[in-house]
Amino acid sequence: MPKILLAGGAGYIGSHTAVELLNTGYEVIVADNYSNSSSEAIRRVELLTSKSVKLYQADVRDKKALSEIFSGNKIDAVIHFAGLKAVGESVEKPIMYYRNNIDTTLSLLETMQEYGVKNIIFSSSATVYGEANPVPYLETMKRGACTNPYGWTKSMMEQIFEDAAKADKKLSVILLRYFNPIGAHESGMIGEAPQGIPNNLMPYVTQVAVGKRECLTIFGNDYPTPDGTCTRDYIHVVDLAKGHVKAIEYILDNHCMEIFNLGTGTPYSVTEIVETFERVNNVKVNHVYGARRAGDLAECYANADKALKVLGWKTEKTLEDMCRDSWNWQKNNPDGYI
Ligand code: NAD
Ligand code: UD1
Repeated sequence: MPKILLAGGAGYIGSHTAVELLNTGYEVIVADNYSNSSSEAIRRVELLTSKSVKLYQADVRDKKALSEIFSGNKIDAVIHFAGLKAVGESVEKPIMYYRNNIDTTLSLLETMQEYGVKNIIFSSSATVYGEANPVPYLETMKRGACTNPYGWTKSMMEQIFEDAAKADKKLSVILLRYFNPIGAHESGMIGEAPQGIPNNLMPYVTQVAVGKRECLTIFGNDYPTPDGTCTRDYIHVVDLAKGHVKAIEYILDNHCMEIFNLGTGTPYSVTEIVETFERVNNVKVNHVYGARRAGDLAECYANADKALKVLGWKTEKTLEDMCRDSWNWQKNNPDGYI
């Protein structure tokens, strides 16, 4: 079976993708420097699948480390998850974000070129649509102006991939634009383990529910949306992981330079998330309404038709599944992977 290198594969989305790839029969190699993860996630992936993962502790910027991985394994395709992703931190430390995110991409592309590896799938984000495009977002829309350095790194990396594919006619690239991944594997063995105070909504909700934080602040209730709170396209991380399997199947069979939105196409508001979480889990989430957060858009959701048409992929899990699985993970692992 083809061998897939997951750069940044010990993280939240990478570990769930590893499970789905292994269950489909692919061989999985992971390279991660654990800057936002731990090898325990991969140990649990192995337990869950009864399959083994070849694991390298490596900085993906380090071309010497990458050479060892590429010379020791005949890699058929790379999925590039390795990156820093905290929006607020990227505003404080933009140089660190540009250095890490752009360099991982350049080192991977250079090493792939050296070893004749021709397939790469990249973790992009809905953030590249920027502020001016109307919802629902379509892959044919132009990238817009991002509101923070994290978003700009994604936008720049998309441009790098497009230019690299134009210049190397044999290089195949798929850019996957994720919407808002939440949830966890239904086993409760792997999930999102943010360090410090969570920036994102669902980990904050679960930490309030478990008693680690006192109260959730809902950022703004005066947006032009049905209940005044922002709407997003929340997607279960297992559906998202399955989207990567479909993208791998496609890229191994087709020479391509394609962009796909990975979302459900259905927006939910912050208030709906909190209410659904409380209802399905029968647990209270203390919350107050506060000021808007700088840089937030009122609405963000996908048109997900292209992924269905071309990849045969669509989401299967409901918002209830997302809330139940997020809570199951948090309850079983109140302090993450320790
Ligand atoms: P994550 O932080 O859990 O995973 C990223 C992994 O990359 C971590 O394991 C981290 O240790 C590793 N990493 C970072 N820099 C590295 C380096 N230089 N060398 C080796 N490993 C490195 O994040 P995630 O949520 O799993 O996200 C995966 C990818 O998807 C990221 O690129 C992220 O920007 C992108 N993305 C995430 C979301 C989201 O909401 N989670 C949304 C859109 C896009
Ligand atoms: C953000 C980034 C996105 C990135 C993603 C994952 C932008 C515009 N968006 O998405 O690029 O891929 O994080 O890192 O850069 N909320 C609260 N209270 C909280 C936390 C969040 O009300 O304590 C609200 C937010 O206002 C938002 C929604 O919950 O409306 C979702 O927020 P979040 O989980 O941070 O994701 P995004 O901002 O959509």
